Amino acid sequence: MSDETPALHETPGARLADRIERRWATVVILIMAVFVVVAAFAGIHQATMPQARVETINPTRLHLGGEFVETNLGSAVEPDGAVTVRAIGQQYSFTPECIVVPTDSLITFRVASADVVHGFLIEGTNINAMLVPGYVSTIEARFDKPGDHLMPCQEFCGAGHEGMWARVKVIDKASFFKMAAEQRRLTCVE
Ligand code: CUA
Repeated sequence: MSDETPALHETPGARLADRIERRWATVVILIMAVFVVVAAFAGIHQATMPQARVETINPTRLHLGGEFVETNLGSAVEPDGAVTVRAIGQQYSFTPECIVVPTDSLITFRVASADVVHGFLIEGTNINAMLVPGYVSTIEARFDKPGDHLMPCQEFCGAGHEGMWARVKVIDKASFFKMAAEQRRLTCVE
C-alpha cells in the first residue's frame, strides 16, 4: 500500500512549492547580503575617510587665549565682507547669549565646547550641529529675512540642560555693517 501512494512531499504540487520556497529563501539571503555589504561599506568608509576639515582645540584652555578668548567672541566682519561668529557652549549657557547677524550675508559660525557635548541648533533653520569638546564646529549659513530665533542646546548635557539656550537676532544688513564699523565684535547681549 505504501509503495503505491507517493509520500506527501513527492507529489508534483509539493515539489513546485518546495522550488518556490527555495527561490524565495535565496532572494531573501541575497537581500540580506546586500544590506550587510552596504552597511559595512558605509561604516568602513566613514571610519577611514576623515571629514574634509577637522579642527581640534583644547577645551580646557579656551578662555585662556587664542580664537575663543572672551574678547574675541561674537560676530566679526572679515576683510572680504563675510561674517564670522565665534561662540562657546558650556554647562549651562552659550557665550555670547545673544548672537547678532546680518541678512543676505555668508555667515560662518565657529563654535566650541568648554566641557561636555552640547548641541548647536537655531530654530527655524536647518542649522543643527554637535559641539564636541576638543573640536571646532564650523557651520555656514545665510539668513534671508530679519527676525529672532531661539538657539537651545539640543544634546543632553547635565542637570541644567533645559535652561541652556541663547538667541540669534538677524538684523538688516546695512544696520549690521554700520554697527560693525564702530565695534570690533558684535553681540546683542544687553
Ligand atoms: Cu548643553 Cu544641553
